[in-house]
Amino acid sequence: NFPEKVSLVEVGPRDGLQNEKAEVSTQTKVELVDLLAEAGHRRIETGSFVSPKWVPQMADSGDVFARISRREGVSYSALTPNTKGLENALAANADEVAIFGAASESFSQKNINCSIEESLARFAPVVEEATAKGKPVRGYVSCVLGCPYEGEIAPEAVANVTRKMLEMGCYEVSLGDTIGTGTPFKTQRMLDVVTDVVPVDKLGAHFHDTYGQALANLYVALSNGVSVIDSAVAGLGGCPYAKGASGNVATEDVLYMLDGMGISTGVDMQKLLKATSFIMHSVGRKPSSKVANALMDA
Ligand code: HMG
Ligand code: MG
Repeated sequence: NFPEKVSLVEVGPRDGLQNEKAEVSTQTKVELVDLLAEAGHRRIETGSFVSPKWVPQMADSGDVFARISRREGVSYSALTPNTKGLENALAANADEVAIFGAASESFSQKNINCSIEESLARFAPVVEEATAKGKPVRGYVSCVLGCPYEGEIAPEAVANVTRKMLEMGCYEVSLGDTIGTGTPFKTQRMLDVVTDVVPVDKLGAHFHDTYGQALANLYVALSNGVSVIDSAVAGLGGCPYAKGASGNVATEDVLYMLDGMGISTGVDMQKLLKATSFIMHSVGRKPSSKVANALMDA
């Protein structure tokens, strides 16, 4: 059931940098996005139109969108939690947008200040208006393998929100292991329940690597036919409203695994490492990616 090709969604500029303590300049973000496109990424989550009081790191997303060198065939996307976010994303000419909800009530409250039910009611006009403007909408479900506030989350709750987002008009739903607590059998059980109600080709896997389980869980997702994987250059990332969340699974680690398995992505490792090196010099750390550390010059 393994896919022949995987579509990588590079979330470093958004999920990665939204959690960065050090200030990252707009120019650095722009250069990072351009280097990622250069490396062959076709889907780049470039920014987030959320409240700057909640996530100050993303306050300059409009400027980032204005200054990137758009490449043909590359989709530059943004998070939009409500119609205000969508207006800003449309003004920035984002190619696609994403709504983001959760399978956990407590996480929904902490992250977007409303219940799951309220969030879906809030997303409906976002999806409708974006679709009318020709912008595809992606959905995210957080806490699919555990919640920082509630612990275990029932796979049925994941399936339920996923189905509702697809019915609303999302073209794809990305399943977020927000705090990286998932393990392989748990991932399989969750996917069993979710793929009972929605087709596997509508799903993406968005796994954080807090406990070092992301690649093992991704292997399980791939074996089920999941062919869309979210990852962040250098393993940047986390969610400011999810205690204990560390970075997304590193793009370099995912790419090394997929290259080794003969699954094509269109992303070139050597060019990707230029982006890795660039952003890690900018934030003054070493990448958390094992592969990047193994392959990069000191
Ligand atoms: P709220 O306070 O309930 O919203 O926040 P509100 O509608 O009452 O508005 C309050 C203020 O925010 C008002 O301004 C609004 O204008 C402003 P004021 O009158 O006080 O000056 N506002 C906005 N400003 C800019 N852009 C907007 C916007 N909306 C309202 N879109 C809200 C609700 C959703 C806005 C807030 O909770 C929020 O911004 N949350 C975002 C949190 C976030 O970005 N988390 C990280 C992303 S999710 C994630 O990382 C998980 C993921 O990676 C998947 C995974 O790993 O699981 C996707
Ligand atoms: Mg995330």
